Formats: sequence, structure tokens, C-alpha cells
Amino acid sequence: MTLGDSEQVAALAGELGYPSTRAQIEARFRGIEGNDDSRVFVAADTDGRVWGWVHVFGHHLLESEGQAEVGGLIVDSRARGVGIGRSLMAAAEAWAREQGYARLTLRSNTIRTEAHRFYQDLGYTVVKSQHKFQKPLN
Ligand SMILES: CC(C)(COP(=O)(O)OP(=O)(O)OC[C@H]1O[C@@H](n2cnc3c(N)ncnc32)[C@H](O)[C@@H]1OP(=O)(O)O)[C@@H](O)C(=O)NCCC(=O)NCCS
Repeated sequence: MTLGDSEQVAALAGELGYPSTRAQIEARFRGIEGNDDSRVFVAADTDGRVWGWVHVFGHHLLESEGQAEVGGLIVDSRARGVGIGRSLMAAAEAWAREQGYARLTLRSNTIRTEAHRFYQDLGYTVVKSQHKFQKPLN
């Protein structure tokens, strides 16, 4: 991804269920770009049209070995089923291997049953189900 992709990446973030402005994506991308342990890959055609993106980063906890994690993955609804998601996940996995991670993990909302079939097709297995808690701080 480059900063110039931000508008298209923002549109796809909305399709993923996370409405974002170009300015928000630009600001977040600057933070990601400045971190060697985090990367965004886009699937773009020769005209620069972005059809999908994946964000992958190093996830580090005290209680377990660091691992790579997919933070978000989306393919334009008009371009699904032709291998773009598979290619993006291959790029994320290659990056994670280069970084020295032994495994790539991801979390997926229980309602995304089609995505679950996609991940299982790619060799991912469910290792845990959990609740996500949060509390507003202001
Ligand atoms: C999930 C998603 C990224 C898959 O991308 P895609 O480009 O359509 O997937 P691909 O064409 O690369 O499919 C790869 C394989 O996964 C399987 N697959 C993909 N979509 C599937 C579906 N809906 N049902 C069953 N299997 C599916 C296919 O078997 C395919 O195998 P093949 O390459 O041998 O045909 C895409 O559907 C998407 O963006 N969905 C909405 C957003 C989303 O749910 N993101 C994940 C959040 S956790």
C-alpha cells in the first residue's frame, strides 16, 4: 500500500464494516508504515485500481511467543471468488515468515461464515472462541 491508495482502501474498509474516511486511513497508515513489524498489502490492477487489502502485524504478549496476526482483510464484492483473497493471504504469510514468525493467526466475527470457509480452505483451523469486552473511557 502507498498513501495514494488511501481513498480506495477507505472505501473497502467501509465494505468490511469499518466506515473510515480517507484522512483516517492516511493517518493510520502513516503509523503502520513507520512500524517495521506491521504491513499493509493491496491487490491492485495495472491502472492502480485497488480490489482488496490485508493488514498483518506482529502481536506480542508476555505469556506467549510473538506471532503474526491479520488485522483486516477485504476483497471488493465485485471481485470475489477469483483468487484475490488467497493472493493477499499468501503475501501476509510470506511477510510473516520473513519476519521470523512461526504462525499467523486471525480473529473473525462468528457471523462471517463465508470467510470462515475461505480460511479453512487455506488451511486455518479454529483454535479458540472468545467474547470481546470493551468499556468507553470518556
Ligand atoms: C473472505 C474474502 C476475503 C475471500 O476473498 P476472495 O478473493 O473472494 O477469495 P478467493 O477467490 O481467493 O478464494 C480462495 C478459496 O477460498 C474458498 N472460498 C472463498 N470464498 C468462499 C466462500 N464464500 N465459501 C466457500 N469457500 C470460499 C474457495 O474455495 C477458494 O478456493 P479456490 O481458489 O480453489 O477456488 C472475501 O470474500 C471478502 O472480502 N469477504 C468480506 C469481508 C470478510 O469477511 N473479510 C474477512 C474478515 S475476518
